[in-house]
Amino acid sequence: MSLLDGRLQAVLNQIPAGSILLDVGTDHCKLPAEGLLSGRLNKAYASDVKEGPLQAAERQLSAQGLAGKVELFLSNGLTAIPFEILEEVTAVSVAGMGGEVMEVILSTAPLEPPLWILQPMSAVYELLDYFGREGYAVVAGDLARDGDKFYRIFRVQKTGASYTPDYFSMHRGDPLYRSFLEKEERRLLTALDGLNRAKEPDKKRIAEAQGLLEKIRKAKDT
Ligand SMILES: C[S@@+](CC[C@H](N)C(=O)[O-])C[C@H]1O[C@@H](n2cnc3c(N)ncnc32)[C@H](O)[C@@H]1O
Repeated sequence: MSLLDGRLQAVLNQIPAGSILLDVGTDHCKLPAEGLLSGRLNKAYASDVKEGPLQAAERQLSAQGLAGKVELFLSNGLTAIPFEILEEVTAVSVAGMGGEVMEVILSTAPLEPPLWILQPMSAVYELLDYFGREGYAVVAGDLARDGDKFYRIFRVQKTGASYTPDYFSMHRGDPLYRSFLEKEERRLLTALDGLNRAKEPDKKRIAEAQGLLEKIRKAKDT
């Protein structure tokens, strides 16, 4: 039986078969462990900014018969990963944390990996704006659903060419696309309602939410 829920399985699916992976913010190390057990990954490294998650990772690896098969590093993003490992990895995954933390991890990477697989839990539009500003092309996007929750996974490569991001087009054709847009529309309408009812409505945030709502409605019509 797989170690992964639908969200992490969708992340693994975006990692090219045969990859040498570095999983940043690995916590329980389920993604590298399942990637090795299923044969999808050729090799895996994992890191976390805290000791506790790395201990959980050790326990997981032992439980799966993978003790010593995934080298673990205490590192804030990629900053303390040995250079020769950064040169060896073909993909870096960062899943289950906020988009703002991901921006810092991307911007402080001492060496640019060939491919990033990112699954932000929050600040997703801000992260997409960052990709556009800093020239990270979204080469593929995927949607995963767990009950009422949707998750977005981005496969990203740095090209250096900045652009204005299209927030949704990468998911067109995905069977979850329509229900994802409908959920986003409902979420924004609720947020707008709250913003408008505030004692002193924040005009900037209202305008941003309205702009996003327009984009979602346009995406629904195309
Ligand atoms: C919620 S867990 C996600 C675990 C797993 N990646 C997943 O998607 O299920 C987030 C993990 O990221 C780690 N983390 C947060 N900021 C980090 C950073 N800047 N560098 C490395 N790890 C970080 C946390 O310590 C925590 O173990």
